[in-house]
Amino acid sequence: MQTLRNIDELRTWRAAHAQRTVAVVPTMGALHAGHLSLIERARSEADVVVVTVFVNPIQFDDAEDLESYPQTLDDDIIACSQAGVDAIFVPPRAEMYPNGYCTFTEVVGPLSSTLCGASRPGHFRGVTTVVLKLFNLVQPQVAVFGEKDLQQALIIQRMLSDLHVPVRLVVAPTIRDIDGLPLSSRNVRLGEEGRLKALALPRGLDKANRAFADGETTSIKLVEIVYEELLVHPGVEVDYADVVQLHNFADVTEAKAGDLLAVAVFIDGVRLIDHILLGGPALAVVPEAD
Ligand code: PAF
Repeated sequence: MQTLRNIDELRTWRAAHAQRTVAVVPTMGALHAGHLSLIERARSEADVVVVTVFVNPIQFDDAEDLESYPQTLDDDIIACSQAGVDAIFVPPRAEMYPNGYCTFTEVVGPLSSTLCGASRPGHFRGVTTVVLKLFNLVQPQVAVFGEKDLQQALIIQRMLSDLHVPVRLVVAPTIRDIDGLPLSSRNVRLGEEGRLKALALPRGLDKANRAFADGETTSIKLVEIVYEELLVHPGVEVDYADVVQLHNFADVTEAKAGDLLAVAVFIDGVRLIDHILLGGPALAVVPEAD
């Protein structure tokens, strides 16, 4: 595996692989089994795989969140090498955003302004900007993203389509720990207690989904079920819980199968997101301890 530490090195590597199809897995590092599943998927989609590791400052709306974002580059390099990655691209911040940088890419409308977009102003603009820059640099045929960040994946799909970017987007399923919590680089910031509280997230979604299967279709009631599960735990703050249509993120009052129930919470200051497609398969969640 080659470690490419600047844009020149990436361009030289890409030119040497001009005849091969490339799949890219964009990440912010702190790689875990969820990322490894994206890498495995990427390996099945193209001749060679590039993982990008770049903590993108312009997608953070909170300086403290950026500062405390976990960084484990040495471990990430080992993990990528063991996972059969061909190149890891780790660009310096000053090359991605040199002095005077002032160009941004933004998908406007409800896809970007609801859910995480409503509570993290500018976040998706930062994501689409860096993803387009990374695609311009890596020139992949395929890009693999996780379904865990479903809103992000849908926004990127929209950008690719609207801007005629010739990259095929693959959305790979969310990987959950055995207790039901979706894998996230932020999970390492939860203490033991915080982690137990975090399980209320998949548990609440699963309860709401079961209620939906039993005939409850009122969005507010489904959202209430999630709130009830979350708010019994001190230190849990709900950022949003909402039911929206999957294709346009419009709010719904009466939920239908395939609608998205999405939740974001702060647990002891750590922001976590999770979602379920109503009427979809149950989540394997651990019951709450007595
Ligand atoms: O999902 C992430 O890790 C980031 O948002 C991404 C896509 C790598 C852009 O910085």
